[in-house]
Amino acid sequence: MQSILITGGCGFIGSNFVRAALSTLASTRLVVLDSLTYAGNPMNLVGLESDERLRFVKGDILDASLLEALFSEEEFDTVVNFAAESHVDRSILEPGGFVRTNVLGTQSLIDAARRHWTPVGETCREGVRFLQVSTDEVFGSLGETGLFHEATPYDPHSPYSASKAAADHLVRAAFHTHGLPTLITNCSNNYGPYQFPEKLIPLVIRNAREGHAIPVYGDGKNVRDWLYVTDHCSAILEVLARGAIGGTYCVGGNCERRNLDVVETICDLIDEISESASAPRRDLITFVTDRPGHDRRYAIDSGKIARELGWRPTVDFDEGIRRTVHWYLANDPWIEAIIDGSYREFYDRFYGNR
Ligand code: NAD
Ligand code: TYD
Repeated sequence: MQSILITGGCGFIGSNFVRAALSTLASTRLVVLDSLTYAGNPMNLVGLESDERLRFVKGDILDASLLEALFSEEEFDTVVNFAAESHVDRSILEPGGFVRTNVLGTQSLIDAARRHWTPVGETCREGVRFLQVSTDEVFGSLGETGLFHEATPYDPHSPYSASKAAADHLVRAAFHTHGLPTLITNCSNNYGPYQFPEKLIPLVIRNAREGHAIPVYGDGKNVRDWLYVTDHCSAILEVLARGAIGGTYCVGGNCERRNLDVVETICDLIDEISESASAPRRDLITFVTDRPGHDRRYAIDSGKIARELGWRPTVDFDEGIRRTVHWYLANDPWIEAIIDGSYREFYDRFYGNR
């Protein structure tokens, strides 16, 4: 890989991926394209400003003329598409933005890659790759048993997962119809540094720290399969390097936890680490009305990526959640700045002139 377009590189997983790629791929150029929605935060790339291999461009994946210019200037051989609206609760309130970015935005990127890599009448440029970062949520919800795997039929239940499913279908169509060399990863729930504090784990850490009520949806027995974010990044790097073109890889942490257990673990860790509160943080747990259409259980069989590419998660949940809690407690200013939007001054300082 000589030149990678990383869309959504100022978000949670994208920014962790930028760090992973810079430390793994010594001489590769990385171009982050991010429109900086509420979830995109250039401070997530803080400390990387002086790295000449990294360029940041503020822009939308739907902007075809911007994509055209970037593909011409940078001669990308790889696209990794993280850009998305990613929060299920927001998709319930306002699905339109999810269709715009997740579906139309993905097609816009496919179109740009096709124009540059597979001109009409010519065979595809050698060595190029288009990797779509997708989710296990496209498979719907599991009962008490069973695991999602690459052949599980798509059955999305939320506007978020439906829009991600549609994007995956468009990526597959580009492979079959136009010969675009595509790859798809369907990953389980990630956690770790730089996640916007509307998602369960950072939200619980923040509320527990501040002594605010901790909302648990429904009975708290919904199950998610948690993966530490750097393990997701290493899986993507493996799939890019050695994945079978046109293929799909399920990526999971082999780490099923009920939401209530996750929340209690975080409360106990904060009790242990921070100065004592007047009462245990568990007392802040408040059961609230369930999310409409709330998927009961997700769990991934990562056998294919383990067998074919030798990938396995390296950070277990006890270690990962401890690291995550420590990171958020040590990074209060980051959290508050991204919530109130004041991080935008970092954008001008670090990236405004590139
Ligand atoms: P995020 O919400 O933290 O980041 C999304 C990024 O995309 C933000 O930086 C945002 O500014 C940018 N963006 C949004 N719309 C854009 C547009 N139109 N043009 C350019 N940039 C735009 O999301 P995340 O949690 O980092 O997820 C990244 C990807 O991974 C998403 O595609 C998501 O579906 C997928 N995924 C996430 C998880 C998870 O647990 N978070 C698990 C599996 C897959
Ligand atoms: P979330 O982090 O939104 O990820 P996803 O919905 O993509 O799995 O939520 C993780 C789980 O936690 C999910 O079952 C919903 C639940 N949840 C709560 O119980 N309370 C909350 O405040 C949030 C944000 C999520």
